Amino acid sequence: MTDRDVTARARDDDTPLETTLRPQRLSDDEYINQEKVKSNLRILIEAARQRKEALEHVALYGPPGVGKTSLANVIAHELGVQIRITSGPALERPGDLAAILSNLEDGAVLFVDEIHRLPRIVEEVLYPAMEDFHLDIVLGKGPGARTLRLPLPRFTLVGATTRIGRLSSPLRDRFGATYRLDLFTAESLERVVRRSAGILHVEIEPAAASEIARRSRGTPRIANRWLKRVRDFAQVKHDGRVTLAVAREALVALEVDDAGLDAVDRMLLRSIAEKFSGGPVGLDTLAAAISEDTETIEDVYEPYLLQEGYLKRTPRGRVATERAYRHLGLTPPTQSATLWSELNEG
Ligand SMILES: Nc1ncnc2c1ncn2[C@@H]1O[C@H](COP(=O)(O)OP(=O)(O)O)[C@@H](O)[C@H]1O
Ligand SMILES: [Mg+2]
Repeated sequence: MTDRDVTARARDDDTPLETTLRPQRLSDDEYINQEKVKSNLRILIEAARQRKEALEHVALYGPPGVGKTSLANVIAHELGVQIRITSGPALERPGDLAAILSNLEDGAVLFVDEIHRLPRIVEEVLYPAMEDFHLDIVLGKGPGARTLRLPLPRFTLVGATTRIGRLSSPLRDRFGATYRLDLFTAESLERVVRRSAGILHVEIEPAAASEIARRSRGTPRIANRWLKRVRDFAQVKHDGRVTLAVAREALVALEVDDAGLDAVDRMLLRSIAEKFSGGPVGLDTLAAAISEDTETIEDVYEPYLLQEGYLKRTPRGRVATERAYRHLGLTPPTQSATLWSELNEG
């Protein structure tokens, strides 16, 4: 299910496209949206540049496809330094990390994607490295063991995660700044679509850009994927121009509805409505009912459904909102009316 068309996670066929479309600069027409994060970062970057120091370590979190990897690249580019890219699961042993750290250029950015999946023993090597740029190497075993201090180049760790809650507090404390990247509104996604169309030399009607944006679950990665599909469709079946009609025709073939929900989103909501009387239903129960794992539900599906008000999280579980019922063409049950009014007030 994770490889469904609408998934916000990167897929292999996204790679060449993403490299072309990845923003390089912090400017508003390159790295779109996330205004607060950008203004904050501009100050940090400028200060580091003036002091000729490495930028403090930065943690980025948010749902898949909202620009974490892009922002790490932008930071390195703005600082004018090298970027090394790795991920939590790739760093299996302390030696893997030690090798990367000791080979960094001075001031470089080390990007660790999925940092919540860093093994504990590797994480411990990272602490002194982040704190004052050295490695502690233990030589020998038992009572005769000695610790050797190895100095490292100064570097900036940029860690990205979909789940900040999974980071241990010692790791979290070592980041100088932590930024949350949110899903995009349809308006900011439209700007992403227009920017990407410009880079790909696609002629696109404003109404078509807005249609693609509306159907992209608040996620730039999905917007770019749809743009590419619509472009191909326009080229093969029409004259290459992306009009509203062409965009609609192409997107109908992709089975995303006009709210940007796909079959799995609808199945999730329908399951809460029909099998669990609208909820509240616990995450584990819901996951079992639709044969998905809880992590995928939390990371991939829920952020958009929550943002758009199809779903609510309550202490007792997930609840389908009136909006969800209306979207599915179902009548909301009356006995939950009190619960809804409670939720709407709270
Ligand atoms: N702020 C942004 N402005 C313009 N394009 C963006 C932005 N954020 C993401 N994108 C586009 O979406 C794609 C996926 O973003 P990425 O940084 O890989 O997301 P993440 O690492 O959070 O999963 C990028 O290749 C880029 O084209
Ligand atoms: Mg990424």
